[in-house]
Order: sequence, then structure tokens, then C-alpha cells
Amino acid sequence: MDWGMKNRLNRIFKPEDGHTVMLACDHGYFLGPVSRLEDPRKTIEPLIPYADALMLTRGVLRNCIDAKYNIPIVLRVSGGNSIIGKDLSDEGITVSMQDALRLGVCAVALSIYVGAEHEHQTLVNLGKLINEAGDYGVPVLAVTAVGKELEKRDVRYLSLSCRIAAEMGAQVVKTYYCEDFEKVVKSCPVPLVIAGGPKMKSETDVLEIAYNAIACGAKGVDMGRNVWQSSKPIAMISAIRSIVHEKASAQKAVELFNSLKK
Ligand code: 5RP
Repeated sequence: MDWGMKNRLNRIFKPEDGHTVMLACDHGYFLGPVSRLEDPRKTIEPLIPYADALMLTRGVLRNCIDAKYNIPIVLRVSGGNSIIGKDLSDEGITVSMQDALRLGVCAVALSIYVGAEHEHQTLVNLGKLINEAGDYGVPVLAVTAVGKELEKRDVRYLSLSCRIAAEMGAQVVKTYYCEDFEKVVKSCPVPLVIAGGPKMKSETDVLEIAYNAIACGAKGVDMGRNVWQSSKPIAMISAIRSIVHEKASAQKAVELFNSLKK
């Protein structure tokens, strides 16, 4: 692996423990002004000191995040779909590598939709992006997207999707936590981070899946809604950090959340 690629990955995954807490804020690319992200600057800025990397679109990066921040950017470069469109899997590559480099990003991110109508197109997109990003030493994060079919998130489906993403050459894979998650980790030869999915019933549920994912070998989280839709986003991301970087148990993280939320 070339120096540039290694360095970018080391900026995202902290070399001290190889883990990362990414904050996902790219939802608007197909969901529009999703709840609590209506004003991205207001939501994201206070969380920047607690995140190891931000995952977002070039529109939000250019317009809502000051260039003064020294935070690694994972740029969403796929899109072309919307929540009210025919099929969420109908995505293409929407950002050139030149523009990604102009923005100084540490990685580019694209969704694949295994088993969906546009599976082939999204996998070919991934291969193309890996070729192009590789020319410039930029890592690719593949998101194993499920669209509206949240019930797809089981060990068989996620193992298949993550492994395909890794076989295609993605340097990082973002997926969901599921029962028997260690099987997903074992069969995927590149680092995995987990999304949170739609907001869960309680912060405890989120911290438990974060803990279980790390215990099974995930290298971090790339969560969005369960952080910034929490009534106490800073307490939430701090509690997640304690699991990812300080080996806190789920119980300890819940205690930290409760003490910080006051
Ligand atoms: C959208 C994404 C989101 O970044 C991802 O789903 C993470 O956010 P959340 O934790 O809210 O699910 O990749 O396709």
C-alpha cells in the first residue's frame, strides 16, 4: 500500500488502537432535510471535536463546514436516487476524483445494493471508483446499503455483501450490526465499521450494539441518526467513544451517557 493511502487510513483509524468514531451526516443525499439535520452546520459543528472523521456530501462540506477544522473527511460520492424515487439502488458515481481531491478528502464512500434491482450497476460503480481512487492513493469505503428493506440485515446477507465489497477491492466496509456478527467480521478481510440505522428506542440499545460490534472485531462505528437525533448528541458520541477507544463496557458507556446528559 502506498504512503498516501496508508496515511489517509491512519488519519481515519487512529494508529493508537486502529479504531475510529466516524460521524455519518450524508443522509441528505437521498433523504433531503432529515430530522435534526435540517440545518447541517448547527447539528454537525458541536460534534466535530468528538468525531475522528466526518462522512458527508460535498454540498454540505462546502457550505456548512468551515475549512478551519482539521478533521478527516469521508466523502459520499454515490447518489442519483431519492427516498420518493422508484428504487434506492439506482445509484451512480456523482463526484469526480478531481473534486474529491480538491476537497482534501481522506476517503470516498459509495453504496452497493447486493440483491437489489441495480446490484450490477452499484458493484460496477464500486470497481470503477476503486480504480480511480487507487490512482490517487484514496481509500474507498463501501456501504452495504439495504435501502428500505431493513429486514435484510442478517448474518447471511451482510456476510455476502461485505465479502463482495472486500473482494472488489474496497479498503473499508461499512455495514450493520447483526446477530452472529463475528461471522461477518471473520469473512471480511478488510476493516469493518458499523452504521446505526434508524433511531433506536433507547441509547442503551445503541451502546450495546456498538459494544458488541467492537467485541466481535469491528474497527469502529460510522453512526449518524443515533447520535444527532439523540436528545443529548454530545453525551451520546462521548459514550460511543468510550467503547471504541477506551474499551468501556456497554454498562460503563451507559453510565457515562447518563452522567453527561445532565
Ligand atoms: C446512508 C449512509 C449513512 O451514512 C448510514 O446509514 C449511517 O448512518 P446511520 O447511523 O444514521 O444509519 O450510508 O446510506
